[in-house]
Amino acid sequence: MCGIVGYAGKEQCADILIDALSKLEYRGYDSAGIAVFENGVIKTEKSKGKLADLKDKLAAENSKPEGCVGIGHTRWATHGEPSDVNSHPHGNANVTIVHNGIIENYKEIKDFLLKKGYNFDSETDTETVAKLLDYFYEGNPLETIIKVISEVRGSYALGILFKDFPDKIFAVRKESPLLIGLGKTSNFIASDMTALLKYTRNYYLLEANEIAVISSENVEIFDTHKNPVAKEVNVANWDADAAEKGGYEHFMLKEIHEQPTAIKTTISPRINAGMPYLEESGLNMEDLKKYRKIFIVACGTAMHAGIVGKYIIEKMARVEVTVDIASEFRYRDPILTSEDLVIVISQSGETADTLAALRLSKEAGAKTMAVVNVKGSSIAREADIVIYTHAGPEISVASTKAYTVQLSIMYLLAFELAYAKGRISKERCEQYIADFVKIPDIIEDVIKSSEKSCQFAASKLMNADSLLYIGRGLDYALSMEGSLKLKEISYIHSEAYAAGELKHGTISLVTSEMPVVAVATQSDLFEKTVSNIKEVKARGAKVTLICKESDNVDEDVADYLVKLPVIDDVFMPILASVPLQLIAYYTSVLKGCDVDKPRNLAKSVTVE
Ligand code: M6R
Repeated sequence: MCGIVGYAGKEQCADILIDALSKLEYRGYDSAGIAVFENGVIKTEKSKGKLADLKDKLAAENSKPEGCVGIGHTRWATHGEPSDVNSHPHGNANVTIVHNGIIENYKEIKDFLLKKGYNFDSETDTETVAKLLDYFYEGNPLETIIKVISEVRGSYALGILFKDFPDKIFAVRKESPLLIGLGKTSNFIASDMTALLKYTRNYYLLEANEIAVISSENVEIFDTHKNPVAKEVNVANWDADAAEKGGYEHFMLKEIHEQPTAIKTTISPRINAGMPYLEESGLNMEDLKKYRKIFIVACGTAMHAGIVGKYIIEKMARVEVTVDIASEFRYRDPILTSEDLVIVISQSGETADTLAALRLSKEAGAKTMAVVNVKGSSIAREADIVIYTHAGPEISVASTKAYTVQLSIMYLLAFELAYAKGRISKERCEQYIADFVKIPDIIEDVIKSSEKSCQFAASKLMNADSLLYIGRGLDYALSMEGSLKLKEISYIHSEAYAAGELKHGTISLVTSEMPVVAVATQSDLFEKTVSNIKEVKARGAKVTLICKESDNVDEDVADYLVKLPVIDDVFMPILASVPLQLIAYYTSVLKGCDVDKPRNLAKSVTVE
């Protein structure tokens, strides 16, 4: 989704803005632009395409703005196609803005302004806000912004330049994220901290409808009654390298390799004297035991982590768990009571549908818990209980390490709940934890040992038009994620199917043209899955099988094999996720796709 940056300092800022925007590229975008005060005049440059296109344009036209205060934007088109004219910044000589979010009543505002004699160049909702700011402006930016935000409906993070205040950036947000970076002789705005790690680690979080006035020396924050607001300085503990590729060809590969560390960092603080310990996150086990039902609500990969969570929580703790896609949950009128726990899972903490589901659950009186990676994100701030995953910044659009740390929290929750409810003994719980802490090292080995076989499998899959992923139980839950990973970055259609359900319709699709990836890591279901594999092989499918080293696999069962070390079956999904990620990664690489920034996708989905 759109990315915003802004700089008020002592240095020429065009390159700083473009550099900071490059750190937000992972969010997904189709055009970019900057606006800088040059000798007191707002100079705007923008271009359809990537930041490289903007840089080329500035170089070719020798038009890089000169000045030390400016704003920048990467746009992910919502209203109007990607084009130079629809790119941000928008505005006029008096006021120019960048915007992330959606203005729901922009048509009304536009009609109103057209009657007042304003003209519009673009098809965007953003331009209406810029012109509305101009309309209300009578010399006081703070008052103008307050008037405008009382008129607009929807979501917004805005960076604003007023011609009369050439040393300042103004900023305000609601729903869409925006933070204020605090430097020594410069201050910033940004959609997220990865844009600023090179310049500062200190930042303020802007709450809804707080208005920031930012200059090189000072940052002031006001509420909508013009009262100053005191803010706490947050410190990002991600280092600048975390947002760089560090020698890897793609962020996705780097992030796959970072999983052992991410899991260790996520679980270590949650283990105390050999037992799971989630209480430090504000979780009260006595309360947790009492919930009638658990709802897990999320989108995409995070939702898939929830499905694994459902299998293990139900199996171990015998508590009913329902998993919902957030965009469905929010409109399906779910039956929620104060006896229910709603767990939302989100890497970014800003996913619009997940945030809406969280709010709906709170309104219905349910207790809410968020499993979130980004500190201080909207979901983290609004949930009753927050359990942070510690994956560090995930830049690649395809989620990998965020998924395995989300799984890690699901495991800890399942163990702790199962023990609290007396479903497992202390000794059994300690044994699970003892096995769990070994997993990061085992994953390290799996990454190394399965790389070649995954590359080989990818070379066999890359020319397929369509694929099936099959499994049973936990393997089916994992197959969903494997299938999503492949399709989103290699553009090959794929579907995950419960292996036992194939014969009820889907097997009619299976021919020699449709490869199958089978996951069979669960001992009690192995033979049954093998039978399903034989059914697809009998119809000509070539099968890639992911199973345990200890499994005896007849030659006629699999065409390509990826074998995994043997650990307790319950943990196999976390191991088997690695070859699924690698198969997707190498298929994308072999097909020459844009691995880290697949077409049409955004990292943080802040619109419905
Ligand atoms: O930031 P979130 O975890 O809330 O994002 C939810 C999905 O958009 C996300 O998991 C998406 O499916 C993955 N990036 C796909 O790899």
